[in-house]
Amino acid sequence: MAAMKRQWWKEGVVYQIYPRSFQDTTGNGIGDLNGITKRLDYIKSLGVDIIWLCPIYQSPNDDNGYDISDYKSIMAEFGTMTEFDALLSGMKSRGLKLVMDLVANHTSDEHFWFQESRKSRDNKYRDYYHWWPAEKGTPPKRWSYFDVDGNAWKYDKLTDAYYLHYFSVKQPDLKWENPKVREEIYDAIRFWFDKGVDGFRMDVIPFISKDIEYPELPKKYKGNFVSYYSEGPRLHEFLHEMNQQVLSKYDIMTVGEAPGITLDKALDFVNEDRQELNMFFHFDLMSLDRDGDEVFWMRQDKWRLTEFKKIHSDWDKAFAEKGWGSMYLSNHDFPRSVSRWANDSPEHWHNSATMLHTFLLTMKGTPYFYFGDEIGMTNARFNSIEDYKDINTINRYELLKQNNISLVDFLENEKEAARDNARTPMQWDNSKNAGFTAEDPWIKVNTNFASGINVETQENDSASVLSYFKKMVQVRKSHLGLVYGKYDLLLANNEEIYAYTRTFESEKYLILLSFSEKETTVEVNEISYNKALLLISNDKVKAEQSNTRFKLKPYQALVYELT
Ligand code: GLC
Repeated sequence: MAAMKRQWWKEGVVYQIYPRSFQDTTGNGIGDLNGITKRLDYIKSLGVDIIWLCPIYQSPNDDNGYDISDYKSIMAEFGTMTEFDALLSGMKSRGLKLVMDLVANHTSDEHFWFQESRKSRDNKYRDYYHWWPAEKGTPPKRWSYFDVDGNAWKYDKLTDAYYLHYFSVKQPDLKWENPKVREEIYDAIRFWFDKGVDGFRMDVIPFISKDIEYPELPKKYKGNFVSYYSEGPRLHEFLHEMNQQVLSKYDIMTVGEAPGITLDKALDFVNEDRQELNMFFHFDLMSLDRDGDEVFWMRQDKWRLTEFKKIHSDWDKAFAEKGWGSMYLSNHDFPRSVSRWANDSPEHWHNSATMLHTFLLTMKGTPYFYFGDEIGMTNARFNSIEDYKDINTINRYELLKQNNISLVDFLENEKEAARDNARTPMQWDNSKNAGFTAEDPWIKVNTNFASGINVETQENDSASVLSYFKKMVQVRKSHLGLVYGKYDLLLANNEEIYAYTRTFESEKYLILLSFSEKETTVEVNEISYNKALLLISNDKVKAEQSNTRFKLKPYQALVYELT
């Protein structure tokens, strides 16, 4: 079975860093590369193997680095290429691998290519981007994520034409249909691979192919732009070409960010025989607590555990024979995992954070942790619009204001939904600004660093969230069956407990996770407690089990090896 083929990127644990918020060493309030280098021993101590670094390239920071103005240089705020080389060699010497972020659906409007492209209709770079000449009338509607008016076509007076931007006006979409564009991107990828980088996370990769007639949105999409964007006619041709021309030449890993990709399309990307990508991030879980197609609005009723289980069971099935999954609960675009998927109240925070660690580390698929989740960082829940820095929150606020729509509800929504919840600085210790910076941080530090949610306090406590994280990583690493074993869901209809087994050759594991704030007892058919060896539990109280009946404390996690 291809899915069983051993690979370093299947067995590794990934740690994602948002560089802007990790560690400032210069006093400008912004995290930097030297800050990451300074913390490499800490990262290594977690037991993780692979670091995914959000964009560090030159950028005017309209979207915090997801708007690149030069693919081969480092953002001045973050440091220099020499500092990057030192960071990379510091990783290599500790046996850590580095995955970079490839943002190639669009560039910054300050990229040289776009600066040239917009100059004249016959410029050499004109065809690097999508242009619609104004004499053809207004272009058919395209929706934009970060545009104040939600319009993805921006009129540019100089050449009397519109350019396409699925994200902000400062993020024009590249025209992958032009072979020169693809060659430029492959060249940039080679540049980093030749330096020794171990892979790429590919930003909104399903959006790269477009129908360059730009027709009206086909009816079958019923207005769902994300699906339409992710199904461009030449998408798989481009991915396969990139694989053949660049990716396959190196021992690297790739993981696509894949909004819009549904279960039935999964293997088109990661079936090994197709030679495209290794893994991708689906968005089914990320949409679970959202209001239908309204990706930025929280749904009013609470999501149910049975829905959560179904998403993971379905995706596990998609990769049962071919391909490989990626497991994540949070990243720089979503709120903090403990606040979102469990319970961050002081009473339940510890078990909640560690139960979620247990989940990611006992599922099949590569686990991705977002920095700070290892110490249980929580949502910042800012009260005022002034505290937000994210273009997504700020532009939506502007739009509502212009239309006289209630801002109170919006600000309440952002307390749970905003991306900035996950972008507050890393909480290192009890000192000023949690040890992130000596000066004013670019975004407010969450005040709960002073109440134990910081690295230093937790490193000195063997019962801390951080200590559990490290132990749980080792549990995964010392039991190959937790990586490759077959997943089987138990108690599918239970709304409190997520239970499953993992089976691999003669090894078998039982995982029980409570998503409830009450003590819960479950009957697990055919699995006798007498034959279960407890590998790890996140609760101080020793569980009282008997025969096939398992009792779990609120948000308790239990991992058993069955003999
Ligand atoms: C991806 C990134 C997000 C960014 C967007 C545009 O979704 O993860 O942070 O804003 O693409 O590049």
